Amino acid sequence: MRVLITGANGLLGSKLSEIYSRRGHVVYAGFTSVPPAIGKPVQMDVTDKVTVREGFENCSPDIVYHCAAVTNVDACEADPNLANEVNVEGTRYIVHEAKRVGCQVIYISTDYVFDGQQGCYREEDAPNPINVYGKTKLEAERVVLASGRPSVIARTSVIFGASPSSGKQNFALWVMDSLRRGERVQALTDMYACPTYNQNLAEMLIETAERGFAGICHLCGATRVSRYDFAVAIAETFGLDRSMVQPAVSADIGPKMKAKRPPDSSLDNSKSLRMLRTRPMGLDDALAAMKAEMDANPLIRPRETPE
Ligand SMILES: NC(=O)c1ccc[n+]([C@@H]2O[C@H](COP(=O)([O-])OP(=O)(O)OC[C@H]3O[C@@H](n4cnc5c(N)ncnc54)[C@H](OP(=O)(O)O)[C@@H]3O)[C@@H](O)[C@H]2O)c1
Repeated sequence: MRVLITGANGLLGSKLSEIYSRRGHVVYAGFTSVPPAIGKPVQMDVTDKVTVREGFENCSPDIVYHCAAVTNVDACEADPNLANEVNVEGTRYIVHEAKRVGCQVIYISTDYVFDGQQGCYREEDAPNPINVYGKTKLEAERVVLASGRPSVIARTSVIFGASPSSGKQNFALWVMDSLRRGERVQALTDMYACPTYNQNLAEMLIETAERGFAGICHLCGATRVSRYDFAVAIAETFGLDRSMVQPAVSADIGPKMKAKRPPDSSLDNSKSLRMLRTRPMGLDDALAAMKAEMDANPLIRPRETPE
């Protein structure tokens, strides 16, 4: 199969590339400036219609995983035009070309389409994003749905994994790195989500595509947890000093952040449990698997750059 992955340098895209390559499929790895390590590199700025068109024409993919996005929530708030260009218009170009070549679209969306007042959101619950990032991702979902092609909208939550990607840390690596340097980590006790191991997410996505599912589906880790408890679980799994993880509340930290965050964006994953053989991993199992992945690849080291 010919698989095109946008954002192939990213936390999720790199894992999808790795798994598909290992399974013997032809991976076309979309990037903007640094060619990804795995797959056939395809330079494709999703805001540039021409490179998107050329990319699709050169790859003729059977399936596209659209992972590319501006994912930094505060950066989206600071530059809504950029967020709109990449997250919404970029998705429009991808969907247009996918329709033209007749390929399946898997769009990666987010728990941030919800306002976080309720938690444990089901696919049918009404979205109500409270920041620019969430608004642009929801708008892009609508673009995908309006295309009329059978597509998947996979909403996920706080992705973490063993390697830094696209030059940035993820929460788990940032906590590990900080604690290893002897620095305290402040983590919120009143912000909940379902952290999702990138390997587990990639496997669930691939099975979703293989089964020909169409529509919205929540694919996330099986444990609803606060950022504080997530950070403590990371410290415990990696043998780090958990007393250096300090509880904080949004009222203290929130005003310092540019974008508002939903307090409880946890997702109900019952639909994926009914639909897939691949199980969403509980947090302890996922962190143990991440540790095993790092132990097996000692060259993987968190970079010094903060999240
Ligand atoms: N990370 C999370 O916690 C989280 C949670 C929920 C949903 N999601 C969604 O899941 C998807 C994957 O997230 P991730 O964490 O893997 O992302 P990531 O690591 O931040 O990577 C984002 C990717 O987007 C690419 N990109 C940005 N602007 C682009 C442009 N103009 N043209 C082409 N590519 C561009 C970057 O490519 P280059 O590096 O080549 O520039 C990068 O590889 C995203 O759609 C995100 O919204 C993420």
